[in-house]
Amino acid sequence: MAPSDDDSDPKLPFPKLSRRAFFTGAGASALSVTLAQSVADAAPASPAVLGPEPSSLSLSINGRTVIVQADPATTLAELLRNHLGMTGTKIGCDRGACSACTVWLDGEVAASCMTLAFDARGRKVTTIEGLSQGDELHPVQRAFVENDAMQCGFCTPGMVMSCAALVERNPKCTLDDVKQAVSGHLCRCGTYPNVFKATLAAAKGGGKAKGNS
Ligand code: FES
Ligand code: FES
Repeated sequence: MAPSDDDSDPKLPFPKLSRRAFFTGAGASALSVTLAQSVADAAPASPAVLGPEPSSLSLSINGRTVIVQADPATTLAELLRNHLGMTGTKIGCDRGACSACTVWLDGEVAASCMTLAFDARGRKVTTIEGLSQGDELHPVQRAFVENDAMQCGFCTPGMVMSCAALVERNPKCTLDDVKQAVSGHLCRCGTYPNVFKATLAAAKGGGKAKGNS
């Protein structure tokens, strides 16, 4: 009779391991240890945990480095207004529905009420306060004044940031482009026609702020 590989004894409380079972089990264990090690080696380092206490935050705002202590849940809009006193940026809805809080992040428009301040690290934040060059208004700001493109003014900083981003990007913008650029902005005073006029006038005049050409 051929020798059996199964020499387990059913009378023992634990069946004796056969040689095949032993080597199969040992191989599987070695493989699972190796796999576990590989997974551990490949796993990305876990991100630093912030909060709930305030942490130090360094941001580039209007070309200057600002260091503040802030709760990690602070939005960029709250940080600008409540921590830095930069109240040009308005908060209307505080939930991404009105665009009153529009700023630029690396030159692109963004709703600062929907952006965590800590997520703006490493990016260039531009607010309405940083749009003019000293006393020289941005062409879009000037055109808003000349074309009477505001009434109560609450939506105006956000509108200006979106319209200025458009003419900086596309000085040949059309009326449709302007309408598209302000399509997310709510103006309860209904200044849209003059906003369109002002933005097109700024674009016609060259559009870009000095230093941005
Ligand atoms: S306040 Fe940010 S979108 Fe309304
Ligand atoms: S000017 Fe009043 S909300 Fe737009």
